[in-house]
Amino acid sequence: MRTNDVPVLQGGYAPVYEENVFDDLKVIGEIPSDLNGMYVRNGPNPRFVEEGRYHWFDGDGMLHSVLFEGGKVQYRNRWVMTDSLKEELGAGRSLWRGIKEPPRRDRPDMPIKNTSNTDVKFHNGKLVTMWYLGGDLYESDPYSLETTGKKPIDSRIAPLPVSAHSRVDERTNEFLFFAYGKEAPYMHYGVIGADGSLKHLIPVALPGPRLPHDMAITEHYTILHDFPLFHDQDALAAGRHKLKFHSELPSRFAVAPRYGSVDQIRWFEAKPTYMYHVSNAWEEVNARGETEIVMTGTPFRLSRDRDGNIEADKVTRQATNLEHDFIFYEWRFNLATGQTYERVIDDIVNTEFPIVNSWMQGYKTRYSWNVLMGRNRVPEQPRFCGLTRFDLQTGTVQAYNGGVDFWYSEAPFAPRDNWKHEDDGYLVGFVWNGTEQRSEVHVFDASNVGQGPVCRILLPKRVPHGFHATWVSKPRLLAELG
Ligand SMILES: [Fe+2]
Repeated sequence: MRTNDVPVLQGGYAPVYEENVFDDLKVIGEIPSDLNGMYVRNGPNPRFVEEGRYHWFDGDGMLHSVLFEGGKVQYRNRWVMTDSLKEELGAGRSLWRGIKEPPRRDRPDMPIKNTSNTDVKFHNGKLVTMWYLGGDLYESDPYSLETTGKKPIDSRIAPLPVSAHSRVDERTNEFLFFAYGKEAPYMHYGVIGADGSLKHLIPVALPGPRLPHDMAITEHYTILHDFPLFHDQDALAAGRHKLKFHSELPSRFAVAPRYGSVDQIRWFEAKPTYMYHVSNAWEEVNARGETEIVMTGTPFRLSRDRDGNIEADKVTRQATNLEHDFIFYEWRFNLATGQTYERVIDDIVNTEFPIVNSWMQGYKTRYSWNVLMGRNRVPEQPRFCGLTRFDLQTGTVQAYNGGVDFWYSEAPFAPRDNWKHEDDGYLVGFVWNGTEQRSEVHVFDASNVGQGPVCRILLPKRVPHGFHATWVSKPRLLAELG
């Protein structure tokens, strides 16, 4: 296997080839007895490394879970058994090249491999894994992590490439999704009900093929993204993928009632930027009695020249090389006036992968727990170097980092049993301890991240760096699985 010349296949990034279950793990500190549920994280773990240039986003999806119950834990990992992985296992080699290479022209059904490696959510009793470029959604059993198949979908959705960052409204158990692709109208939005059936689907016409990464929901509305970073159209016509930031174009946001028709979509414009991840969104009524949709998130810190003009080529390079430099930001979409108000919340601390108390998704939140991002030491090898806690009410931020060799992961909020207020719980995440050369699970008090982990669970095998995670509380597991 060719790994020596690829930074994101070495060290803490290197794939693992065993599927394990571990109990009786060593613990530093004490696992809180009121922390019950499941932490599960998705990420790239190539079974076969493809020919050509490898990108961190290319690897086959692998789930890593930690089940917490009564102060005990169990770790487990398993590949997402996608159609593409099955094909490659059958062939005994890689059959697709990565996103840095041209797509397969002989496979119009899957020109780029759907690895299902990006995101994971819990819906209708299953873990649902998703891929950021859009495709079939896969389901896994939450306890065994065995892939049970694809999410049953309506024939109207079947041809649509459903993106990562579909969102589950825990209060209604609806699964809200967007799909995007290279064919007009370029985006769709829909809702799958608690029973798994399609309740709503509308086209969302974009000016061309775009690269939206996330969406946001409020109690009554959904917000969809059209940022001016997308594929160079000439290159795309020639069958190549080449990003381009269009600083002359605005950012655009579609605000639609959750079950709104195409006619009810309201488009709002804002300053050009690009953003992967939303922190939260909610509805507010301002002093004039007007309803505003508020959305927070972590867009790029845009490179600018001495006159303040955006350096589009540098922004493009920042995205291409995974040079992660972000700010924390707020947009307000005024439904009465059609105007957008936007502001920087924080441009001092570089953070991404924002997390809120998921029960409060869609409602006004005070806290956002984001991953602290460090400057890359090696090109294309992003560093997740700590965790933070933003308090939007006081305008303060806490940060924690265990040392220069520690590497963190998106750490979802895990409410303690019978939680009472927004930050009444924990953050749970994998950590690569480079000093001891081992993976650990760190549990933080969500109300005081700055004090460091309240307990550390030591893992006998490494967990490669990865992408998105979710927490499924015990009541949710029991409600849907018994
Ligand atoms: Fe993402």
